[in-house]
Amino acid sequence: MRVSIGSDHAGFEQKQALVDYLAGKGCDVIDRGPDSDERVDYPDFAAPVAHDVADGAADFGVLVCGTGIGMAIAANKVHGVRAVNIINTQFAALSREHNDANLVTLSGRFVPLEENERILDTFFATPFGEGRHTGRVEKIMALEN
Ligand code: RB5
Repeated sequence: MRVSIGSDHAGFEQKQALVDYLAGKGCDVIDRGPDSDERVDYPDFAAPVAHDVADGAADFGVLVCGTGIGMAIAANKVHGVRAVNIINTQFAALSREHNDANLVTLSGRFVPLEENERILDTFFATPFGEGRHTGRVEKIMALEN
């Protein structure tokens, strides 16, 4: 599985740890930065990760900021992206099963690393439910036109 990942300064420490965590699980990780915890603007790092997902360079995207909220708002501006801000494993599973989310945004300030690792495990392991959810997701994507 190919995963593109990025953060801002508030998510940098967890991003670094999650790069190692995902690589250790055998993922091909594309690290879109930053390379330090110097203050940066989160949309600058949401953009390359979102484009990796939209262009098919990555199967999934992961973005970490203070809350995950700004990253989700920014990533969802890129056509083809369904970004979700997730703070527990139940929502991680439902965002895949019901919404076919392809990019997950995490909180580096309010959610511990171990919980974010569980969130990623759940997110990647849960398939889209298809069936009644398919037409609904298609209607979401039609809003881009
Ligand atoms: C940075 O202070 C903070 O605003 C950012 O990391 C994120 O939480 C925005 O949504």
